Amino acid sequence: VLLLLVSLFLCSTNAKIIDGAKHSIRQFPKGFLFGTATASYQVEGAWDSDGKAENIWDYLTHNDSCRIKDCSNGDIANDSYNKYKRDVEMMRELGLDFYRFSLSWSRILPTSFPDKINEAGVQYYNNLIDELLKYNIEPIVTLYHWDLPQKLQELGGWTNPHIVDWYVDYARIIFENFGDRVKYWITMNEPREICYQGYGDTTMAPALNIKGIGEYLCAKNLLVAHAKVYRIYEEEFKPKYGGLIGITLSGSWTEPESEKYAEAADDVIQFEIGIYAHPIFSEAGDFPPIMKEKVAKKSATQGFYRSRLPEFTKEEIEMIRGSSDFFGLNHYSSNVAYKNESINFFDEPSSNDDLGVASYKSPDWSSSASSWLKSVPWGFYKLLKYITNNYNDPNIIITENGFSTYGGLEDDDRITYFRDYLDAMLDAIEDGCNVTAYTAWSLMDNFEWMQGYVERFGLYEVDYSSPDLTRTPRKSAFVYKNIISTRSLNH
Ligand code: NOJ
Repeated sequence: VLLLLVSLFLCSTNAKIIDGAKHSIRQFPKGFLFGTATASYQVEGAWDSDGKAENIWDYLTHNDSCRIKDCSNGDIANDSYNKYKRDVEMMRELGLDFYRFSLSWSRILPTSFPDKINEAGVQYYNNLIDELLKYNIEPIVTLYHWDLPQKLQELGGWTNPHIVDWYVDYARIIFENFGDRVKYWITMNEPREICYQGYGDTTMAPALNIKGIGEYLCAKNLLVAHAKVYRIYEEEFKPKYGGLIGITLSGSWTEPESEKYAEAADDVIQFEIGIYAHPIFSEAGDFPPIMKEKVAKKSATQGFYRSRLPEFTKEEIEMIRGSSDFFGLNHYSSNVAYKNESINFFDEPSSNDDLGVASYKSPDWSSSASSWLKSVPWGFYKLLKYITNNYNDPNIIITENGFSTYGGLEDDDRITYFRDYLDAMLDAIEDGCNVTAYTAWSLMDNFEWMQGYVERFGLYEVDYSSPDLTRTPRKSAFVYKNIISTRSLNH
């Protein structure tokens, strides 16, 4: 009886059970959920089917045909618009608890007029949601995963404050149509990439490169839009449907090269994560103080009367503070920060202009197919602790984590990555972090933005040369399936 009680206790926590000398089994906490994710433009295809309009990725890829590494686009992608039943079948094969996917704004509101809903678009998402629910797979729906209607971009996109109203109108339509069945909502996927790469650089659509201005205007408008939608859901839909709504931020861990760069490393975190996390999750609200200080200082040296970082009103700060039911985290890798005095960031128009800190990836870390992605599981642990300690111990949902290869079914490096990262996550949970769900990116290979179909993230391989875009499980799919069914990691 005692043995039974002890093992019951161990199973109900994320305990490490040592079985003999060689094996250890780590159990995930009770109620912990597993899923995979994709995003509309990366998998749907059907770019102009049934009334869908052009979005900024359609526009970018159609007007600059070799902007993408393999000169590809998402016109057909995985054709999930037509093959969603096969996708759900794969989720059943994996035994997923949930599936995270995003909605295409220009499929639902092609003209951008909220009174002109494209019923075929709504029908597609109804079909997908119903198919998921039929098999007890919880839909987690992202409202915005980078595919802004091109029509709205022509008016400035996320740099135009009117986007708050455009986004609110769109979100209301979403909640009205799908709110009865969808209980988990993510307002935005990775604001940093949307703003910094899309408006402050050329590495994501719309590739505007308005450095030091575009990314900050975007950040402010996006935060206000997110919070307004959060409040609308909270007041009008939550009482009726009882769902949860939050935001997904991207976050790398930044490790100081040595103790003397501790402050510099923290500044990087403030610029990358704090810019969104501080206004939403900290007690104080607003942009991080160090960011305000640094951008104002730099703006002054450039002869600007006011800081390039826009200000929030008191009401906006209040509205944004606390506007997320969970901390959605996309985490992949880490960096090392240092201050190279020989680089004068204040003279060079570099992307680190306001921050003034350089970072790199250690050559010791094992590589993936993506230059920005090296395996650093301990960085994941440190970041989870950082979020727990600095942002009010939130409910953390890992909304993405994954590893890229150049393809092939034998993906041992991906398996090692997943196992190491899950292990680090369990360490963090054991040490008090409130992580409740994990999402592997991705269910299947897909259009990896500027990298096209070169970098592959899928648990399932997609054969883009086959007429039916055959999906085949990789070795990692079987490993993930096993982790989910046993709710444990086996060493
Ligand atoms: C984060 C993005 O949300 C997703 O769209 C992308 O494919 C993965 N990272 C991998 O780069």
